[in-house]
Order: sequence, then C-alpha cells, then structure tokens
Amino acid sequence: MDIIKGNKVILTPLKLDDVFFMKNWGKHETPLLSDYNFPYFHDEDIIEWYNSKKNSRRRMYFIVHNEEKRAIGYLGIKSIKRIKKEATLGIVFDPNYINKGYGTDAINAFLDYFFNTMKMRVLLLEVAGFNKRAIRCYEKCGFVKYKQYLDKYHDQNIDRNNKYFKNEENNFVIKRGKIYNFIYRMKIDNKTYYEMREEIDKNKT
Ligand SMILES: CC(C)(COP(=O)(O)OP(=O)(O)OC[C@H]1O[C@@H](n2cnc3c(N)ncnc32)[C@H](O)[C@@H]1OP(=O)(O)O)[C@@H](O)C(=O)NCCC(=O)NCCS
Repeated sequence: MDIIKGNKVILTPLKLDDVFFMKNWGKHETPLLSDYNFPYFHDEDIIEWYNSKKNSRRRMYFIVHNEEKRAIGYLGIKSIKRIKKEATLGIVFDPNYINKGYGTDAINAFLDYFFNTMKMRVLLLEVAGFNKRAIRCYEKCGFVKYKQYLDKYHDQNIDRNNKYFKNEENNFVIKRGKIYNFIYRMKIDNKTYYEMREEIDKNKT
C-alpha cells in the first residue's frame, strides 16, 4: 500500500501503534455521533479492532496525519470488489480535529488514489441523514445521494429531549416504540470524478 498526500494531510497504511494513539482522541459533544467516539481502552480490544481493519483483499485502511504529524483520523475502504471495481468508504476523525477541512482534503486525496492508482470505478458510502457535516463534506468531494432508507437507530435509549436529537427530529421515525433513522446511500463514479477534476483544473488556469 502506498502513501497518499493531500494538501494538508498524509495518509499512510494503518498500524497498531496508530490505533493505540486513538485512546487520546476527544469525544463528540452530540450524542448522535456517540457511535464514532473511539470506544476501546483495553489492549486486547484495541488489537481485536486493529485486526478487524487490517488489510486484506477486501479492505484497506489508512491513518490520516495532519501538518503536525498528529494522527487525527482514519479512512478506509471495505467490501472491495475487484471485478466490479467497487468499494465502500468509511471515515472517522478525532472529534478535536473535525470541521477544519481535513476530512475533505483526505477524501479528495484518496479519490485520486482510488480512481487513478487503483483504477476503481465506483466508491459507495452510507451516511445518517442527521450527519449534516459528513453529508456536506461528501457532496463537496462529488458524492451524490442515490437512495434513502430507514434503519434501526443504534442507541434505543437516547434521550429524545436532548437538544441535538430535537434539532434533527425530522431525520428520525418512531415506530411501535422503536427509534429509526434515515440513511442515505451516496456514490461517486470515475466519470463524475474526472469531470469534476477537469472543471477544477480549468478554473485554476
Ligand atoms: C465526517 C468527517 C470525516 C468530515 O470531516 P471534517 O474534517 O469534519 O469535514 P470538513 O471540515 O472537511 O468539511 C465539513 C463541511 O461541513 C460543513 N458543516 C459543518 N457542520 C454542518 C452542519 N451542521 N450542517 C451543514 N454543514 C455543516 C462545514 O462548514 C464544511 O463545509 P464548508 O467547507 O463548505 O464550510 C468528520 O466530521 C468526522 O469524522 N465526523 C465524525 C464521524 C463521522 O461522522 N463519520 C462519517 C460517517 S458516514
């Protein structure tokens, strides 16, 4: 696996030491993103998590370093289908380093690698409707929504009077006492990517 350079970030293959460092990451203020707080503190859990992400023919994970060489996020693809040339993106950043442009930079750098070096055709992802920051970031990188469905929310005990939940109430449905939330499927294909790049390069000259 290669080293991928963005404007501000560098992506290198994920190592076990990087995962141990994630213990230093912050926590999201909103309970809606609690699923993305790094949950492990015991060595054996960290090793197990790392082994689940370790490169195989069907997955590939990178750690994202910022300008200060700090590990601020990870990005990976899973369900890699070599014949169909498709894969599914996953990305999670240290909550202390979100909303600073690093996610967009990391995805843009990865898209170049995915389409030009790996010669893949389609990158897919799924995102919760309430995760507006992630959706905005993906749209900026050229992903488009193509499907929406309802899924059971991961935390059935969430406080529904919490301000973050209330703000995003329209992204949730309560059915027979169970909480569901809207999920979008998004994708970008190589053609869209090349057209976007061409447009950006044209505007630079
Ligand atoms: C999703 C994630 C990777 C994005 O990376 P990031 O570095 O935070 O994103 P960026 O700063 O590059 O871009 C965020 C954009 O969303 C915008 N944004 C932030 N909050 C927003 C909101 N509530 N509504 C709409 N847009 C919002 C920002 O203004 C920025 O757009 P702009 O450049 O046009 O101003 C990162 O936030 C993260 O790890 N979140 C927690 C885990 C997660 O949600 N992973 C994705 C699961 S599908």
